[in-house]
Amino acid sequence: MIEAAQLRKEYHMGDSVVHALAGVDLRIQPGEFVSITGASGSGKSTLMHILGCLDRPTSGIVRVAGETVSALNDKQLARIRNQHIGFVFQTFNLINRTTAFDNVLVPLVYTRRAFAKKAARDALERVGLGKRSKHRPSEMSGGECQRVAIARAIVNKPRLILADEPTGNLDTRTGEQIMQIFHELHADGITILVVTHEMDVAVQAQRMIHMKDGNIVEDTAVDDHRREQILTQAHDVHTRAFRQKAAAKAILPAAARVPEVGGWPTSFGGGGGDDRGHDAERESSSPPGPKDLGYPAEVDPVRE
Ligand SMILES: Nc1ncnc2c1ncn2[C@@H]1O[C@H](COP(=O)(O)OP(=O)(O)OP(=O)(O)O)[C@@H](O)[C@H]1O
Ligand SMILES: [Mg+2]
Repeated sequence: MIEAAQLRKEYHMGDSVVHALAGVDLRIQPGEFVSITGASGSGKSTLMHILGCLDRPTSGIVRVAGETVSALNDKQLARIRNQHIGFVFQTFNLINRTTAFDNVLVPLVYTRRAFAKKAARDALERVGLGKRSKHRPSEMSGGECQRVAIARAIVNKPRLILADEPTGNLDTRTGEQIMQIFHELHADGITILVVTHEMDVAVQAQRMIHMKDGNIVEDTAVDDHRREQILTQAHDVHTRAFRQKAAAKAILPAAARVPEVGGWPTSFGGGGGDDRGHDAERESSSPPGPKDLGYPAEVDPVRE
């Protein structure tokens, strides 16, 4: 489904160069469910954007669904995106002034109106929002907005879904419902790639990729046994961190104090480190608008 070889992405900031991707090799088979974790700034979104034909690498080769996309122009990239790929983002990226139904119609700009309407209705039904189609994003919960975004992602029947922190803005229970939809889509044969900071989301994949400094540093198949191991480890680290904090506040007796540790393991093998403070800073930067999805700028569902 996806092949990437020696992918590099560099950003030039004045005199310095940021190596957002530093030579990534990756192969994802059709039907796989893959999660990508890594500290803030490790290159996860950059990788997703390039694999999703939203951006081009500085060098390296990307093939999506058998086509070499790394050298295509904007129009050709848009065609590949529209045919094969659905995107889901942390901040939903819906058009606020229009309804759920019209949001789902957006990728169907080149489809005949009657077909498009039926496809949009079906997609909203598929995510359990058949009765919410006339609501605007401001009239829906975060989970409902994300379901609209998923309906929009699947309306063209893509073979690949790329989701960048899809549960990042949702409470745990709502996040689980969103993951359940991804599992159903996966069962239908769609290839799924999810970027996440949450270990209990990451372990739901069949394969976990961990990034650091623009490189893939771990790539692990996950079975039930491994999943259990990873969760126990993450839980232990969390519990120790909690006890450390509690001890610092003298809630627990001194005897219960444990050495300082970070949040999630930096790798699946354990260890400390967490960049959540840094994430919070990054999240405050402006999210990509609908144009970033690659829909033509002139598309305006309201006008139709
Ligand atoms: N448009 C840009 N211009 C300059 N630098 C960029 C740009 N986009 C990303 N970077 C830099 O590239 C690196 C990788 O960024 P990326 O957004 O891929 O990280 P990430 O792993 O998705 O982080 P997060 O978990 O915070 O979303 C970072 O150092 C970032 O600052
Ligand atoms: Mg990111």
